[in-house]
Amino acid sequence: MTEDLSSNLSGAFGRPLRHLAVTGSTNSDAMEWAAEGAPEGAVVVADHQTGGRGRWGRTWASSPGGSLLCSVILRPEFLPPDRMGLLSVMGGVAAVEAVAGLAGAEALLKWPNDVVVGDRKLAGILAEGRSRGPAIEVAVIGIGVNIAPPEDLPPEVLEQATSLRELGMEQQDIRALLLPAVLERIGSRYAELREDGGARLLRRAAAISSVIGHRVTLRFATGEVIDATATGLSDSGALEIDRSGRRSVVDVAEVTRVRRA
Ligand code: BTN
Repeated sequence: MTEDLSSNLSGAFGRPLRHLAVTGSTNSDAMEWAAEGAPEGAVVVADHQTGGRGRWGRTWASSPGGSLLCSVILRPEFLPPDRMGLLSVMGGVAAVEAVAGLAGAEALLKWPNDVVVGDRKLAGILAEGRSRGPAIEVAVIGIGVNIAPPEDLPPEVLEQATSLRELGMEQQDIRALLLPAVLERIGSRYAELREDGGARLLRRAAAISSVIGHRVTLRFATGEVIDATATGLSDSGALEIDRSGRRSVVDVAEVTRVRRA
């Protein structure tokens, strides 16, 4: 199962690469490696995770070899901590572009950073960072892409998920194709972010969004649920909404429903 995932990598991202058969969480590994001095572009990839983490403290389930599980180390000292959300958006845009290029799937970005095909989730991104003073010292972008349907999930969760196999990809070596594609897209979107501060990234994220321009239901960590129209993205990647003419910006919430206009 442990195929060579380094041979197709050509850019700066993925060097050095740590490929683990089993680990707890590649995001935790990458954070530790960064603390030991790993350079920007270093990547941890695993065949299986026993403690995969998702947003909001959730677990991220996967079956051995059935997902791309990777975490990329960045040192975005040019970004202030209050723009950390842009890195999540960047991971989401890169993942959408990589899967669309490979699978020809109509993948979209469901704010803040789920990759969806139709109403089903194909991939999730967990960006974590550590700041020092006015800058983000280190960030880790963790990406999980379902290659085969995840096992051991309750049916109600499974029916909200999809995978590259279910979308028709038949190649044996999907991870060996997908990892270079994801890293290439992260590398070029990151270079762009450094250059223009996020203008092109945000335009692209809005263009491939499954929520902007639509009525959405948002759930907050407090449990509060609201309906609104998603109107755009702020310059830190937050969601701009309109509630009966009252405009506001949402930093952290979950979109639980999208009604397409
Ligand atoms: C989410 O949708 O809630 C985010 C899921 C992110 C999962 C990936 S898998 C690789 C990396 N390691 C983790 O523990 N989490 C991320």
